[in-house]
Amino acid sequence: MLLTRKRRRAVIAGVVTVATAALGIGLSTQFASAQTTLRGAADELGIDIGVAVNDSLLQNNQAYRDLIAREFNSVTAENGMKMESVQPSQGSFNFSQGDRLVAFAQQNDMTVHGHTLVWHNQSPGWIQNLSGTAMRQAMENHITTTMNHWEGDVATWDVVNEVVSDSNGQMRDSFWLRAMGEDYIQWAFEAARAADPGADLYMNDYSIDGINAKSDRYYQMAQELVAQDLLDGMGFQAHLILGQVPGNMEQNLQRFVDLGLKVRITELDIRIEMPATQQELEQQAQDFQRVTEICAGLADCSGVTVWGVRDGDSWVPGVFPGYGAPLLFNDSNQPKPAYYGALEGLGGDGSEEPPTTEEPTTTPPPTGDGDCTAEIDVVNDWGSGWQGNVLITADSGAVNGWTLNWTWPSGQSITSSWNAQVSSSGSSVTASDVGWNANIAAGQTVNAWGFVGSGSSASPQVTCTAA
Ligand code: G3I
Repeated sequence: MLLTRKRRRAVIAGVVTVATAALGIGLSTQFASAQTTLRGAADELGIDIGVAVNDSLLQNNQAYRDLIAREFNSVTAENGMKMESVQPSQGSFNFSQGDRLVAFAQQNDMTVHGHTLVWHNQSPGWIQNLSGTAMRQAMENHITTTMNHWEGDVATWDVVNEVVSDSNGQMRDSFWLRAMGEDYIQWAFEAARAADPGADLYMNDYSIDGINAKSDRYYQMAQELVAQDLLDGMGFQAHLILGQVPGNMEQNLQRFVDLGLKVRITELDIRIEMPATQQELEQQAQDFQRVTEICAGLADCSGVTVWGVRDGDSWVPGVFPGYGAPLLFNDSNQPKPAYYGALEGLGGDGSEEPPTTEEPTTTPPPTGDGDCTAEIDVVNDWGSGWQGNVLITADSGAVNGWTLNWTWPSGQSITSSWNAQVSSSGSSVTASDVGWNANIAAGQTVNAWGFVGSGSSASPQVTCTAA
């Protein structure tokens, strides 16, 4: 049987300890300095510290790659291993996004957590319309082909994702359930176990971090799957709100560990109603510390994955308008208080500054006039559309309100936006602040707002006018 990453790390740590003892290096040297990166601290614990990776940033932004390589020892594809990416039309597989991630992970000695094989969201239309028998075959074929492709490269898989609804622990009313009944979950795990017997198989969901009807339902399903040796782990997404780490989270995870399972925090982010005050950022640091401490303290927590690198990369503002800043790094790649909280929670030393990372070099330098400058940062491009974040920098003086103007070069338009008032006339766009994000301190750059665009992505020259 293959050594899992956790076991391999423990063995390596043992070898190092023996070797240093043989060389006569004192214990005080071995334990002299606590780790000052997340990765160093997690390696020492023998657990994963992971991050969700955006494929287009991975390809285009060297600073993003460097930051991930420095701070994380595990990666998850934010979208690239989901069914709509892997099998957009029946029988036609496209592994390119996941292959890029696996190559990056291997270059940097990281594990890959596979997300996800069976989900009601981001599944292509073709499978949703099949009859029960045909859907079962297609589901099993998707699992088998995908897991075979990455066998040995992807250590752990979210086999099923979000299969329980938010009300009273009922099964989610998805197209999977309607066509196949509840047995589809067992069938999915049977196919996954057969496809890659060396991989650890997980269920994964949100709002199950504490003890409640939804997590109770998973507990019951976990007992049944464990009895058939079909389940190895339970994933707790932990998309949390500031100050709301469930008080019984540790107890909840412990009961799954007691079933013989691994547990994993799979998609951690902690959102704040914007604008975030310093006090809220400190509270967020405590929340991140608590969650990482829980994992570090459990015998069988395989790791913690945060759902994105910089605040501006997060899905949160697009789905919860008015909320943001949910991650560990700001948009200048600098660690936030939350970073130091997470580091402390992993047993590292959060009082030391980590090495700085260069600013991104792939986006054009900001241009503009007056007291501020702005640029459009293309954070995601899926071919038929794209997501742009708009970064605004206050020049020598503070900005207390801003208006941006630009002209699309080739027929683009804005489909939806958040955190700005936007109007368009032909190819001209005007956008202004929404009050709470009007103020920018002198010399500061903020990720002020964002949008989904149609057509091909573009970063036209933006004019920024301060109020
Ligand atoms: O690919 C489509 C494109 O065909 C379509 O025209 C366009 C229209 O808006 O959307 C494109 O897809 C986008 C997709 O990301 C790929 O980039 C979606 O709009 C966008 O909503 C989608 O968001 C992802 C979201 O899952 C979808 O549910 C987020 O990036 C991703 O962070 C988020 O991750 C999920 C986990 O997988 C499961 N748990 C919850 C978590 C947060 O929602």
